[in-house]
Amino acid sequence: MSKVLFEVTEDNLETGMRGYPVGYCSTSFVDPVKGLFYRGKAASELKDQSPEQVMYLLLHGKEASDGELKDFASQLQNRGHCSQAVIRHIQALPRQGHPMKLFCEALLILGMLESQDDYKEDCLNLMAKLPHLVATVLNYHAGWGETPAPNSQLSYIENFAEMLKAPGVDKEKLTEALRLFNILHYDHGGGNLSVFTGKAVASGLEDMYGAITAAMCALAGPRHGKANQDCLEFVREILDQVGESATEADIEALVRQRLENNQLVFGFGHAVLREEDPRASILYAFGEEHFSDDPLIKTALLLRKAATKVLKENPKVSNPYPNVDAISGAVLSAAGFAFPEYFTVLFGLSRCIGIAIQIVYERCVARDGKGTAIVRPKYIYKPQ
Ligand code: MLT
Repeated sequence: MSKVLFEVTEDNLETGMRGYPVGYCSTSFVDPVKGLFYRGKAASELKDQSPEQVMYLLLHGKEASDGELKDFASQLQNRGHCSQAVIRHIQALPRQGHPMKLFCEALLILGMLESQDDYKEDCLNLMAKLPHLVATVLNYHAGWGETPAPNSQLSYIENFAEMLKAPGVDKEKLTEALRLFNILHYDHGGGNLSVFTGKAVASGLEDMYGAITAAMCALAGPRHGKANQDCLEFVREILDQVGESATEADIEALVRQRLENNQLVFGFGHAVLREEDPRASILYAFGEEHFSDDPLIKTALLLRKAATKVLKENPKVSNPYPNVDAISGAVLSAAGFAFPEYFTVLFGLSRCIGIAIQIVYERCVARDGKGTAIVRPKYIYKPQ
């Protein structure tokens, strides 16, 4: 007899399958109190590492030796170009609408033209090509000009920062902020909406690129990935209302007023976490260290205290603490990338990594290599 893991009652229906175990995830784990772990390592242990190091850890389940890291980095560099045909097709697409739509279309085009129809190969190719693909999408959508080809002398994130043609940015500051943002968003357990969607689509044996495109459509919604854009806009709104010399008390008053008016306080709470998201703690510390005079960082830091204090007073709020979105946009803005419309695409640049690796597990490793079954939950017929 196998163990009962979760008993479903009628109260569980229509609750987004919150907490239902449906499979295994070995890349990462989210502890309600301690937050995110990649392959057993806490986010705080990995925060100074390079994307190549963290991607290797997620992919192989162990830290790379110097030789392995060098080899992995050169594999990424060798595979890192999207073909001219892919670029041309992206640049023939409309530029209206949210850039996540263009990103999703670009992923499909990449799959149409470059898929190997092999989950493992496509996983590695996707990881390698994402910086070129995303830089092309952003430069084209924003009208920032032509995207240079990847430079094999540069690291993964230096290359991305170099290809991104956003105006007026300090490349060094932005590269460091992007490195941290990138590694903190790779993966967040097995059940967040985008990874679940990607694995569900791949369970029908759609290829990696189709499944990843579906995952990115899932990430695009404001309850998931677009929350980082909405949070930054919220922090900006607060700053506009209270001004640069505001105190914690000014912000507390504003938060109370918003709640009385049934307005949202963005960036607080989480489906799984019950303490401050360690990804947020790391980014707050980074913001304080590098951009302590930046008005958005100052506002986000005051909001961290004021909103938590107010939300804690409500016993119905299960998590009054900030999540990663409460601060990530302020850090990107302070580092010179003040373009909130593109924050969700940057989230996608990162999250595709964890999703692709989880898809490889489900398609090639799970159930002794047979792969997980096609996703097919039951809905109970209920005439209206
Ligand atoms: C994420 O990183 O995917 C978000 O925190 C949402 C989640 O984990 O459910």
